[in-house]
Amino acid sequence: MIVTIDGPAGAGKSTAARELARQIGFSYLDTGAMYRAVTWLVLERDLDPADETAVAETARAMEIEFDSDRVWVNGQDVTRAIRTAAVNANISTVSDHPQVRAELVRRQRIIAATGNYVCEGRDQGSVAFPDAGCKIYLTASPEARARRRCLELAEKKEPSDYASILAQQKERDRRDESRPVGRLLKAPGAVELVTDDLSLAEVVARLKHIVSRELGLSFV
Ligand code: DC
Repeated sequence: MIVTIDGPAGAGKSTAARELARQIGFSYLDTGAMYRAVTWLVLERDLDPADETAVAETARAMEIEFDSDRVWVNGQDVTRAIRTAAVNANISTVSDHPQVRAELVRRQRIIAATGNYVCEGRDQGSVAFPDAGCKIYLTASPEARARRRCLELAEKKEPSDYASILAQQKERDRRDESRPVGRLLKAPGAVELVTDDLSLAEVVARLKHIVSRELGLSFV
């Protein structure tokens, strides 16, 4: 059985999806980490992120493994390395290449065929698993997402300016929604959950309710 969770950046998808998977006994597939891994490897090898052929070849030859909450690429633990500013700055170039998306979607389908999965990303319900038993679109207003981001930065004692974070968030949404490939959209049949005023525990409780209704399962 497959549950897909898609939605814009900053809606709290990863934390909620991981926790949902844990509570319902499904595995969790972080597809953002797969795009991050390819980007990291391309930079590591000094390849040009804009060179679709070279990037796609790198993606096809890359070995990636998920081991609880760690990510391994070609035998190396890259859990932290895939979340650096350099990766963030190049990931949209890498994830815009149709050949890279085709390869990663192919792998996502192979992985998810091995068990029950919560697959989280941008295109899981729309492209990778259009026939999933339960499709969820997790979203929040740009204001709520900017507020959360400010709190996260403040916790890390990093500078956080609400107005500029909100402007960046809106710009990123505009780009994500107008990308020629891998465009963010609510998949047909997806259930929308707006997380604006909900705590993580409340989001997970609502997700569980949606999953049990859509898949006809009951969770204790
Ligand atoms: O969820 P995240 O921030 O780790 O995602 C990293 C990047 O990968 C983000 O720019 C969107 C992109 N992505 C994508 O294009 N398709 C997916 N299925 C998942 C992530």
